[in-house]
Amino acid sequence: MKILCKCMAGIFLFIACTGEVQKQKSLPSYPGLENVFALSSGVWSGSQPKTAEAFLSLEKLKIKTVISVDQSLPSQSLAQEYKMKYIHLPIHYYGISPKREKQLIQAFFRLPKPIYIHCFRGQHRSVAAGVFALLSMGNITRERALSLLKEGGTSPVYSGLHRKIEQAKVLSSSMIEELEEPLPEKVEFTSFRSLMVNIGRHYKQLQKMKEQSWQTPADHPDLQVTHQLGVIQSYLTKAIESPQLFEEQPEDFSELLQKAKKEILSLQKDFSSIQLPELEKRWWKLDQSCQNCHQKYRDE
Ligand code: HEC
Repeated sequence: MKILCKCMAGIFLFIACTGEVQKQKSLPSYPGLENVFALSSGVWSGSQPKTAEAFLSLEKLKIKTVISVDQSLPSQSLAQEYKMKYIHLPIHYYGISPKREKQLIQAFFRLPKPIYIHCFRGQHRSVAAGVFALLSMGNITRERALSLLKEGGTSPVYSGLHRKIEQAKVLSSSMIEELEEPLPEKVEFTSFRSLMVNIGRHYKQLQKMKEQSWQTPADHPDLQVTHQLGVIQSYLTKAIESPQLFEEQPEDFSELLQKAKKEILSLQKDFSSIQLPELEKRWWKLDQSCQNCHQKYRDE
C-alpha cells in the first residue's frame, strides 16, 4: 500500500510538473493585455487595450477589428494608428439587450477577422458576448460555448450572462444577413440626461463600495474602483465635447464639468496609495463637484 501510494504520488507529481512546463511553454505573453484567450479561430477575447504596447500585442495577433463591450467610451486614436476598426457595443453584467445581441452577431459576421473582443478585465462580459455571437451564428455548439465560459473564468454570479448562452438561438445566415443595426464607434447619447443616467449608475456602484470600506462585493467580483472612475471620466469627457447635448449651456457649465473630471482623475490616480481619511476627503470633494452643478442647473 505504501509503495502504491508513493508510486501514485510520483505519477501525480510527474503529471503536475509536465503540465506546468507545458503551460509555461505554450503561454505566450501579450504585453499590455490580460486574460487573452482564443474563443475560436480568428476570435480572441481579453482585457481592455489602453496603451500602445497593448495595441502592438493586438498587431502581433493580426487583429483587424476590436469590439469593446465595456461601458467606458473607447479612444479611437490608437486603433486608427494601428489601422484597426474599433466599435463599441457595451453590455451589462446582468445580460445583453436584444438590440445588442443583433449588433454583436452582425459585427462577428461582417467585420474583418481576426476580431479581438474586450471588456475591462476580459473575464466575464467579453467572453460571454463573444461566445454568444459565435453560438448564435452556429460556429460553436452550446456545449462548447458553456465550456468556454468556464475556461474564460466568467463568474457564475453573473447569471444573466450564463442564461444568455443557455437560451441563445442559432440564426440562419439569411437571418443574419438581414440584420441592419448600426455598429457605432462609440455609443451615442441622445440627451444630456441619458449621459447623466449612465454616470449615476456607475457612481452608485462606487457609493456601494464606499459603504463596504471599498471592498469588491462578493456578488460583483469584476467591480473595481479605478475602472468605475475611468468610465465616469469618459462620460464627463463626452459631456465636455458635446455642448449640443445641453441646450442653453450656461457660461460656467463646461468649467463645472471640467472640475468634476479633475476630481475623478485625481481620485483615480491616487486611489491605491492614499489612506482612508484622505480617501474620504477626496470622495467628498468629488461629490461636491457633482452637487455644485446640480444645485445650480438641475435642482432649480
Ligand atoms: C456641469 C453640470 C453637472 C455636473 C458636473 C454633473 N451633473 Fe449630473 N446632472 C446635471 C444636470 C443638468 C442634470 C439633469 C439632466 C436632465 O434631467 O435633463 C443631471 C442629472 C443627473 C442625474 C439624474 C439622472 C436622471 O435619472 O434623471 C444623476 C444620477 C447625475 N446627474 C449624476 C451626476 C454625478 C454622479 C456627477 C458627478 C460625478 C454629476 N452628475 C455631475 C448636471 C451635472
